[in-house]
Amino acid sequence: MNMIAVEGGSRLRGELTVQSAKNSVLPILAAAILSSGVCVIERCPRLEDVEASGAILRHLGCRVCWQGEDLVVDSSSLVRWDIPDALMRRMRSSVIFLGAILARCGRAELSYPGGCELGPRPIDLHLSALRTLGAQVEECGGRVCCRGEGLRGAEIVLGLPSVGATENAILAACGACGTTVIVNAAREPEIIDLQDFLRKLGAEVRGAGTSTVIVEGVRPLRGCCHRCIGDRIAAATYLAAAAAVGGDICLSGVDYRSLSTVTTALQQAGCRISSDEQYIRLRSDGALRGICPVRTSPYPGFPTDAQAVLMASLLRARGTTVFVENMFQSRYRHVSELLRMGADIRLEGRVAVVCGVPHLCGTAVRCTDLRGGAALVLAGLQADGITQVENIHHIRRGYSDLAGDLAHLGARIQEIRE
Ligand code: UD1
Repeated sequence: MNMIAVEGGSRLRGELTVQSAKNSVLPILAAAILSSGVCVIERCPRLEDVEASGAILRHLGCRVCWQGEDLVVDSSSLVRWDIPDALMRRMRSSVIFLGAILARCGRAELSYPGGCELGPRPIDLHLSALRTLGAQVEECGGRVCCRGEGLRGAEIVLGLPSVGATENAILAACGACGTTVIVNAAREPEIIDLQDFLRKLGAEVRGAGTSTVIVEGVRPLRGCCHRCIGDRIAAATYLAAAAAVGGDICLSGVDYRSLSTVTTALQQAGCRISSDEQYIRLRSDGALRGICPVRTSPYPGFPTDAQAVLMASLLRARGTTVFVENMFQSRYRHVSELLRMGADIRLEGRVAVVCGVPHLCGTAVRCTDLRGGAALVLAGLQADGITQVENIHHIRRGYSDLAGDLAHLGARIQEIRE
């Protein structure tokens, strides 16, 4: 069985360059379909979800290969517009291919994206955005069939600032005739990265990072080289780890401004944090205190993706911290595993109340989802004895080498593959 084995008790110390952001790379790989040339994603992290995107691109007829650390996608040979169910199920972000395929081929057919680890994740906003652009969307037998040979620019008003729906709308609008205005767009830094990539291809997109994104349809698009932004959630994971066990770490490759809600929380808990354009440094004596309620919300609010790792860092803090998960219904599945390690957490609907305990004990625990899995590893770093984290394929979806990075910082941790 594959697992991560952690022996608790080591402080973390040293420097680390953070991988590129999963949530940038995945929509950008879908966006590569819009290009009629070759796109090079520089220093692309080797994640399970990147492999899943590669499998979809290959199925569509694109040529995809690794050249060292770079992933090269040649979409000039794209011949298909459908994605089979088995590939759709491999990751949730597969749905971002919908807008891109529609823009390139004028039609697209796929099934609903897989899994249900965080509770219901509807795609109604994605489909309604495409309908607003003039696509005919039919849902039958678990398949979504879209036809949109003559997409027309329009005003798309999103009911919620959904990241995925904003990305799908931008990608489809690149293939539409005329101007599209997306109102109430998500403002995540990864949307700005998608805009930067699309501009390199020759697309006309502006406004990303604000609530209004404007796209002028332009085709065909050329190839480009792009290095995605650093992964703010991976960075949050390493900061939370060092905060919890104590130490002095310095992260580079990620914009500290995109992490301000996380760093503010860790400062409140007692960490010393300094940052500039190049790095984020965190120093902690490992004796944290509970903090003001943490409420997840769309960017620039506290990221739902960092909820589990921040919770893990506060398991031994002095006092109580309340978490309110506003983004997804079932995003506390790591809690039952943390309880097995001796944590004191009470759950009621969207609220989790974490009371710090003096000790956690190492035991065998199972990842329930990507970030929840990382939280279990962080709990293991603080626990007495050895923690065996099983079901780590979830972790590999989003971290290229979580155990290796933490070992580099001085943790006693090993990924065991059998
Ligand atoms: C993206 C991120 C994910 C992060 C999430 C929220 C990627 C690849 N994934 O996911 O890591 O946790 O943003 O920051 O970037 N919703 C609807 N209808 C829709 C779409 C969304 O009701 O059609 C709801 C969702 O159920 C959820 C909320 O909107 O409650 C936000 O979801 P969304 O921003 O779409 O998340 P994802 O794009 O799936």
